[in-house]
Amino acid sequence: MAERGFSPPTSEWFHPPPELVERARIADPEATSARAAADRLAFWEERAETLDWYRKWDNVLDDSEAPFYRWFTGAQTNITLNALDRHLHTARRNQVAFIWEGEPGDQQTFSYWQLSREVNRFANVLRGLGLQKGDRVTIYMGRIPEIVIAMLACAKIGAPHSVVYGGFSEQALADRIQDAQSRVLITQDGAWLRGKIVRLKETVDAALQQSPIVETVVVARRTGQDITMQAGRDYWWHELMASPQAGAEAATAVMDAEDPLFILYTSGTTGKPKGVLHTHGGYQVYTSTTLSWVFDLREEDRWWCAADPGWITGHSYIVYAPLILGATSFLYEGAPGYPAPDRYWRMIAEHGISILYTAPTAIRGLMRYGDDWVKRHDLSSLRLLGSVGEPINPEAWKWYHQVVGGGRCPIMDTWWQTETGGFMITPLPTVPLKPGSATRPFPGIEVDVVDDEGNSCPAGVDGKLVIQSPWPSMLRTVYGDPQRYIDQYWSEFAEQGWYLAGDSARKDEDGYIWVIGRIDDVLLVSGYRLGTAEIESGLVSHAAVAEAAVIGVPDELRGNRVQAYCILVAGAEGDEALVAELKLHVRREVGPIAVPAAIEFVETLPKTRSGKIMRRVLKAEAQGLPLGDLSTLED
Ligand code: WT7
Repeated sequence: MAERGFSPPTSEWFHPPPELVERARIADPEATSARAAADRLAFWEERAETLDWYRKWDNVLDDSEAPFYRWFTGAQTNITLNALDRHLHTARRNQVAFIWEGEPGDQQTFSYWQLSREVNRFANVLRGLGLQKGDRVTIYMGRIPEIVIAMLACAKIGAPHSVVYGGFSEQALADRIQDAQSRVLITQDGAWLRGKIVRLKETVDAALQQSPIVETVVVARRTGQDITMQAGRDYWWHELMASPQAGAEAATAVMDAEDPLFILYTSGTTGKPKGVLHTHGGYQVYTSTTLSWVFDLREEDRWWCAADPGWITGHSYIVYAPLILGATSFLYEGAPGYPAPDRYWRMIAEHGISILYTAPTAIRGLMRYGDDWVKRHDLSSLRLLGSVGEPINPEAWKWYHQVVGGGRCPIMDTWWQTETGGFMITPLPTVPLKPGSATRPFPGIEVDVVDDEGNSCPAGVDGKLVIQSPWPSMLRTVYGDPQRYIDQYWSEFAEQGWYLAGDSARKDEDGYIWVIGRIDDVLLVSGYRLGTAEIESGLVSHAAVAEAAVIGVPDELRGNRVQAYCILVAGAEGDEALVAELKLHVRREVGPIAVPAAIEFVETLPKTRSGKIMRRVLKAEAQGLPLGDLSTLED
């Protein structure tokens, strides 16, 4: 729909600064993509050669049971062989793996050597609890070092982890424990958030009433308030770690490349959560390659992926890939604006963060406080910025680029999913950017935008985003439900054998891809397809609007009419005059067809814990229908 003025002006290019181009690992992304396309399997094999394996593969890809693809078959490895063990024999063992800052301001630092010892000790604890290869472990924690140690220890002994984000409700936790059938659960007494204690152990106690399968709970002490410890079931982390069995040496389990590494339940705005399954071999190859090339990550960097380890972003780009690359990561426990709106900027300055990777929703949230909070800190250590989770509206892009990045840091807008394991459509630091576009597929990835019959859409025409050939870190199945894996991802274009991402997108005349949003976030208004994100982006570009959500309400005449909910910036007046002004603004910014029929001013919006607006909740409410499953709702 570019011709109707729905895309931000494509003439607006941002070219990378020469010093980034000079140092970039991949000088010519197009040449690399061409080389990968010419022989994809040879390309991935070459990438796999950069890692350690106990035994090399017989086959790079086995597609004999497609869509149940298998990568590096016959190979043996363990992701912790690459993330930890191999660094211990080199000078890298003294390099800092993690710098952690708690919300109250306490700090901890782990070298690779120290981290490895902690992981070994906890691996011994887990083995002492009777856990064996293949047993699932549920982890329900906040952002403290112990969550990283717990995940790595599980990987080390070959017990797939299922991390449930610490903000989930007891029902969501109970469902996920049941689905994974975990006998061991790891948690903490409480987590600090906005100066208050999130009582994680209490939620665990409630969830376990519904999931009696859990035999053992390990509790890390963080907030120190009194909690109930059930004798014979609950054990303190620090007590188990102090036992003679928890020695600092532990054998790494030898895993087949296709053995499960983890299950991660997707946030799921609709339906029962899906247990996305990832494996050791392909995942380590893909996540380390993408992080190395997209963020040009080096030993001297201070990398801050400001996600939660409980999401795929945290699994891939806080825990596994940075460690495989021997990088130094920063991890922060608490809320972005606590105790003051400049918490993020202060930490970037104090720790000399060189790369910040966060989500548009966080950027918009911080933007609300105004530029002064950013400008009082020296952010000159920043070299690159990143964005993930939803399309970034040009307004937020520009603020992030200008105010946070001082106009010199390119923004890597990475499109990917829990299911893809790693970045799929993304720039590399040398690629010219257009604000709001994730640019092109990563080398070795084949992507297109197609119509319902599978014909490639011409430039400017919306269609479905598909991935046309398998990639090493693809999900292997939906845990316990292989039929759902086929139905959900592979049935729509079964004939072609393409993966359906569930997003709508369009290409532009330069071949850049613009992701519009989930297919179910696309509105059909008077026969036009409108991404809710586009209208929201139009609204947010008005100075009075901090955040916006848009839904389609069934309308006889137009199919749907647009209804908008706006959170205003501090000081703005939500009156009739503003409604009229915003309508005019959307007409100008997005187009007449997108003008909301109604605009409501609200204090909050219903969101999932990963920050996605739950439009279906707004929609149900607008129509007076039942609100449905609210287990993933934030508040
Ligand atoms: C969905 C996947 C990948 C980690 C976080 C979310 C949307 C993600 C972008 C982006 C436009 C994006 C898509 C995708 N999305 N990144 N850069 N531009 N949309 O993981 O919860 O599995 O969600 O998030 O709609 O399908 P997830």
